Amino acid sequence: MKNRNLIKKDYINKIKELTEHNKHYYEKSSPKISDAEYDKLKNKITNLEKKYSFLESKNSPSLLVGSKPSKNFLKSKHRVKMLSLSNAFGYEDLKNFEKKISNFLNLKKDTDIEYSVEPKIDGISASLTYKNNNLVLGLSRGDGISGEIITENLKTIREIPKLIKDKKFPKDIDIRGEVYIGKSDFEKLKDRFANPRNAASGSLRQKDPSETKKIPLRFIAYTYGFNSEMNFKKQSEFLNLLKIWGFNTNTHNKIISNVNNLVQNHKDFEKKRYDLDFDVDGLVYKINDLDLQKRLGFVANAPRWAIAHKFSADSSFSKILNIEIQIGRTGALTPVAKIKPVNIGGVVVSNATLHNEEEIIRKDIRVGDTVKVERAGDVIPHVLSVDLKKRLKESKNFLFPKNCPSCGSKVIKDFNKISKKYDAVQRCSSEGYKCEKIAIEKIKHFVSKEAFNIEGLGKKVVEKFWDLKFINLPFDIFNLNYKKIEELEGWGKLSAQNLRKSIEKSKSVGLDKFIFSLGIRHIGQENAKLLSQYFLNVENFSNLTKNFNFDSLANIDGIGETQINSLKNFFSDQVNLNVVKKLISILNVRNILENKKGKLKNKTFMFTGKLSNISRAEAKSLTEENSGKILSNVSKKLDYLVIGEKPTAKKVKQAKELNIKIISQQEWKKLLN
Ligand code: IVH
Repeated sequence: MKNRNLIKKDYINKIKELTEHNKHYYEKSSPKISDAEYDKLKNKITNLEKKYSFLESKNSPSLLVGSKPSKNFLKSKHRVKMLSLSNAFGYEDLKNFEKKISNFLNLKKDTDIEYSVEPKIDGISASLTYKNNNLVLGLSRGDGISGEIITENLKTIREIPKLIKDKKFPKDIDIRGEVYIGKSDFEKLKDRFANPRNAASGSLRQKDPSETKKIPLRFIAYTYGFNSEMNFKKQSEFLNLLKIWGFNTNTHNKIISNVNNLVQNHKDFEKKRYDLDFDVDGLVYKINDLDLQKRLGFVANAPRWAIAHKFSADSSFSKILNIEIQIGRTGALTPVAKIKPVNIGGVVVSNATLHNEEEIIRKDIRVGDTVKVERAGDVIPHVLSVDLKKRLKESKNFLFPKNCPSCGSKVIKDFNKISKKYDAVQRCSSEGYKCEKIAIEKIKHFVSKEAFNIEGLGKKVVEKFWDLKFINLPFDIFNLNYKKIEELEGWGKLSAQNLRKSIEKSKSVGLDKFIFSLGIRHIGQENAKLLSQYFLNVENFSNLTKNFNFDSLANIDGIGETQINSLKNFFSDQVNLNVVKKLISILNVRNILENKKGKLKNKTFMFTGKLSNISRAEAKSLTEENSGKILSNVSKKLDYLVIGEKPTAKKVKQAKELNIKIISQQEWKKLLN
């Protein structure tokens, strides 16, 4: 037998190695070895333990949940999307939020809106499906559209009821809430995880539920997804029912009206936040009336009826070591201060954005300066101010480059026709794939969660593949050499196979996501959706070439001059045209299914004049919900011009000339039934 000490040394070294990999995985989210290699190392350790009973370590993978969770959970589609929330940082943002709601709902001035106010726990959201009172399915949020099936892991959480006794509990419902670790419980785990949120996330995604069970996870319920019986009218009523049904709800939930009261409550709560046993990053405000919530609906990924009011940021002092220029997907040049790493509210910060040249001049920021840096939640840290007393005598103004540091093209500023001013942002004039940095950013956007959503192809991997010349244009992703990838350091067979699987899977893509993924300036998720509803299928979309009549797109409500100019630019570039053509030949771009049930199917509408009891925005939204299309110009394509009070005379005249049906608001309502 080998010397006992040697065996022990080997064992301890392996544990050290594993702990290091855990850190890369959890805290840095950038594993250095493949799943297979990780498992091999873990097995070696557990085999040693089995063979030699004298081996033990508190960091052994057989004891720890810190061991790597499987990334291979099966997925399931959420019956109702899991949305995110837009953020507000103060009174102005909240006033704006309320104004938009009030306009959309056409509320009388000074109508009080009632909000359900709930602490925003910084944990991991989960959706629990109950059928006939039994917990049958548990999903993670995933990308909001589908989540991972983690039922067994969720079932280990004591605060999640497995069976609901109440007879009035809906027969089929998704209960949603936050899984988290109490701060006091986290104290005992803190040498293994960076923060409570990481610990909750890692524990929830363990392959073996008995690993999850070792961590004291908790659950607070706050909303529902699919629900077969809507026997409540308010969010606050629902929160009360949750309690009756046996769920934990937040004891700090409140009902508040009026923005001034929201702000006062926020101030009071912020003072208490550090005394609570859970991490909170703000308060969530939801319109309490569920009928109003339904009318308001949502935009892209967030509801119109809710907002997260974030807590103020943490800040700290550090020194600027250098100022670098980052180049974004749309060519924007962003100056970033590389600062001496500093811990701000539990996160080590080494970069802080300086926004643009004007900001640098206004705040007089220089390399070598001591600066105050602020960080709030998931927002990028930024430089607040310079401590001039600590300025070095030899310091010099920062000179913003006149040429793109990546491709050397001239740096330009766009002229904004509305504000009649030049933008503060400077751009590389070679927008497109010719500038290397822009090209990389375009590919990162292409594979991102909101676009092709290719798991395993994160930003770091894109950069690496780019450096290795594996990818140059987006379509190269679908023609990778997996043998070569397999041999890369930190990869291996399994990881390469997994990447291949997720790339193959991504080939079937909806037209809206396809358009969004192209990264055309000013064409975000909402506009991509509008364009996809206009073109309906990829064949129609491929008509977009140099010769296309771009001005016809002005008919799409929501698409304006800025978007049209940007589309014109994009489709006049030969490289872009080739990229689109090649992608279409590789991919299965799914058609947009027209809503067959809608009463207004195939009909186009335009509104003019003031409507009564309903805002223009809500009327449009109702028309679209019933499969009608909204146009923003009077043309032969228009079926109905709906007129309210004081309609625009020119529009009515044009409609008459073109023999378009002119109807009243009442007649439009009748069409809707
Ligand atoms: S409601 C559309 N209520 O915040 C409604 N979310 O940014 C979205 N969260 O993914 C969910 N506390 O993880 C809601 N009381 C609360 C919440 C809450 C925390 C988290 C949740 C969600 C994220 C949205």
